[in-house]
Amino acid sequence: MSLTKEIKRRRTFGIISHPDAGKTTLTEKLLLFGGAIQEAGAVKSNKIKKGATSDFMEIERQRGISVATSVLAFEYEGIKINILDTPGHKDFAEDTFRTLTAVDSVIVVIDVAKGVEEQTEKLVEVCRMRNIPMIVFINKMDREGKDAFELLDEIEQKLNLRVTPLSFPIGMGYDFKGIYNIWEKNVNLFSGDSRKNIEETIEIEDVSSPELEKLVGDKAAKTLREELELVYEVYPDFNRDEYLNGELQPVFFGSALNNFGVRELLDCFVEIAPTPRPKESDTRLVKPDEKEFSGFVFKIHANMDPKHRDRLAFVKIVSGTFERNSPYLHVRHGKKLKFSSPNAFFAEKKQIVDISYPGDIVGLHDTGNFKIGDTLTEGEEMRYKGIPSFSPEHFKYINNADPMKSKQLEKGIDQLMDEGVAQLFTLELNNRKVIGTVGALQFEVIQYRLEHEYGAKCSYENLNVHKACWVEAKDPKSEEFADFKRVKAKFLAKDKRGQLVFFADSAFTLQMTQSKYPNVKLHFVSEFE
Ligand code: G4P
Repeated sequence: MSLTKEIKRRRTFGIISHPDAGKTTLTEKLLLFGGAIQEAGAVKSNKIKKGATSDFMEIERQRGISVATSVLAFEYEGIKINILDTPGHKDFAEDTFRTLTAVDSVIVVIDVAKGVEEQTEKLVEVCRMRNIPMIVFINKMDREGKDAFELLDEIEQKLNLRVTPLSFPIGMGYDFKGIYNIWEKNVNLFSGDSRKNIEETIEIEDVSSPELEKLVGDKAAKTLREELELVYEVYPDFNRDEYLNGELQPVFFGSALNNFGVRELLDCFVEIAPTPRPKESDTRLVKPDEKEFSGFVFKIHANMDPKHRDRLAFVKIVSGTFERNSPYLHVRHGKKLKFSSPNAFFAEKKQIVDISYPGDIVGLHDTGNFKIGDTLTEGEEMRYKGIPSFSPEHFKYINNADPMKSKQLEKGIDQLMDEGVAQLFTLELNNRKVIGTVGALQFEVIQYRLEHEYGAKCSYENLNVHKACWVEAKDPKSEEFADFKRVKAKFLAKDKRGQLVFFADSAFTLQMTQSKYPNVKLHFVSEFE
């Protein structure tokens, strides 16, 4: 098949939600539709209950053996769908942010009773900033929850989105009768039978038809007609270009657990969701249908199975075809590499592939060559932009607890930082090493992994830092910058790339510093050039 045809039939997306909204359940139902799995319960939840590190370790261990869960691919009606897994736990939000650089669209899952929650807000904001097309799925309609209009308002206000419902619920909770599919103009009745795979839908071209009364009863039919009138009046018509530009978000209602409303979502998704999108590099915009291969690493997964110690670098293909055993330029290292066993991902397994296309993810075995954000090309000197580090919020000094193992410790820290587990800073004043993380869980993860994977031991010491910011001087030779460096000498550090970072001990200090040194800009993400 030609490159253009392959691009056209690919959809690469992520599902985002606050933990417990139903991301895992929805993923699983989507896979069932694709025939990729045979039964419910096959997709492992990546949930971390009660925030316990042991849970995380267990999950990582399982994943280390079956890393395929990071990318779930399946075919549906001739369309190749790649779902990129995103951790729901907030301490791993950075992992999710990075994965979002590799998706072409997202589905946002919201719990009908809980509405918009904290993680939903954060993740949607990242998608909004990048104009990623979003479809909203309101889940758990079989339970009592918020009124549909109230919820749509909440989504618009809290998430700053412009929504248009493409399906609408008929009742909810105990009275949930089904959904009217505005997109396809039909009614799907809810039976509460989760084993049913394909739902029967009843065409209702015109909702004034008395057929509706027969299906859902007088009262529900009347309410639905009134509500739909309001929907048509209040919400904009669906416009695909607006959706693709991130300016309009279609909304679906359903119940993932009951496999209800999922087919509607999937059918609409394959029709409207974007094919692999062009991506900006530091030199130009790269289009997927260009002949030459290019791609970037958005995730590195350590293999925690002690028998197989290598890592897997996940590369999103942006343009051209990726071929096994072809030499590709690792732009940061300036050297060509060949990959003899690139992995492609299917529902629950990975396997070696000869050729992959834009939108696909390939997993490359890596012994330490890659770090997050690295670009691979056929020879062109360009780098993909847009995998920022976020300003960490938890800090500790890291010390070597086993002097005999300092080399191992150094190597371990180095590799864990490349994987994006945390960030390492070196204080200017005394060269002490500081680990900064977005979530508190990572400290335990680092300690555990250093010990189990590298045979090194570390200990931590508390450090009172409120936030780390990347420093950019408008004029590096100015008096102002020199003064800033002198006064703040104790609070300055370098990150791994050698960029200057300021440790603010409180929000107040941060504010004062900003107003005292207006020409020294403090950034909360590392990518500001
Ligand atoms: P997450 O990945 O977003 O964290 O959520 P997950 O799918 O694990 O779902 C969280 C809980 O919500 C699960 O229950 C799941 O069964 C339930 N759930 C998902 N979709 C629906 C739905 O449409 N209706 C109802 N009523 N419940 C739904 P749990 O008790 O936490 O887990 P489990 O022990 O049942 O697996």
